[in-house]
Amino acid sequence: MSANPKAATSGLGVLMRPMSLAALDGVVALEAEVYPFPWTRGNFVDSLAAGYPAWTLNGSGGELIAYCVAMHGAGEMHLLNITVAPVARRRGHARRLLGALVALCREKGIDRLWLEVRLANVEAQATYRHLGFEQVGVRKGYYPAPAGSREDAVVMSLGIDAARGFDAME
Ligand SMILES: CC(C)(COP(=O)(O)OP(=O)(O)OC[C@H]1O[C@@H](n2cnc3c(N)ncnc32)[C@H](O)[C@@H]1OP(=O)(O)O)[C@@H](O)C(=O)NCCC(=O)NCCS
Repeated sequence: MSANPKAATSGLGVLMRPMSLAALDGVVALEAEVYPFPWTRGNFVDSLAAGYPAWTLNGSGGELIAYCVAMHGAGEMHLLNITVAPVARRRGHARRLLGALVALCREKGIDRLWLEVRLANVEAQATYRHLGFEQVGVRKGYYPAPAGSREDAVVMSLGIDAARGFDAME
């Protein structure tokens, strides 16, 4: 797929397109289903208004499967949110979305993709490691947690030059 697809359909009949305001009802609903501390509609609206790279994936029946939002600046790309519907996990959708981001990094000459992930979110950490990300640090108390406490973030990054395994999706 192109680095910044207007709309691209994979062989699985999954449609990837830039996240639109019209998609936000579904996005906000899935966000609330998945996270105890979800992004608000305003967070998504602000990201779109800022022109951040953001895509949705929809199935052949139009159902929302996944989305991601990233931010770029100062020669770096930062993944802010990636979410796959629980019923659609382990089918390559995160790999597909991250492939679009890797392609965008290459197009813009960005050499590193960064992200934070909750310390307790070992499944997402395993996904990222599997895709070539490495842990580079920990941010103390980065995330809100129950009862007013805070949870640490694991900081991970992927070198774009060495990124492999996304090409089939690009
Ligand atoms: C983390 C998440 C985005 C992964 O999405 P996904 O579509 O299931 O991931 P993919 O199917 O593209 O998997 C990519 C690779 O990671 C591996 N992987 C995925 N989930 C994994 C898990 N729980 N444990 C170990 N490996 C995993 C897959 O096997 C795959 O490798 P393969 O293609 O060689 O088999 C998804 O589980 C999710 O939305 N979780 C809840 C929200 C969340 O935690 N988001 C991240 C916040 S930082």
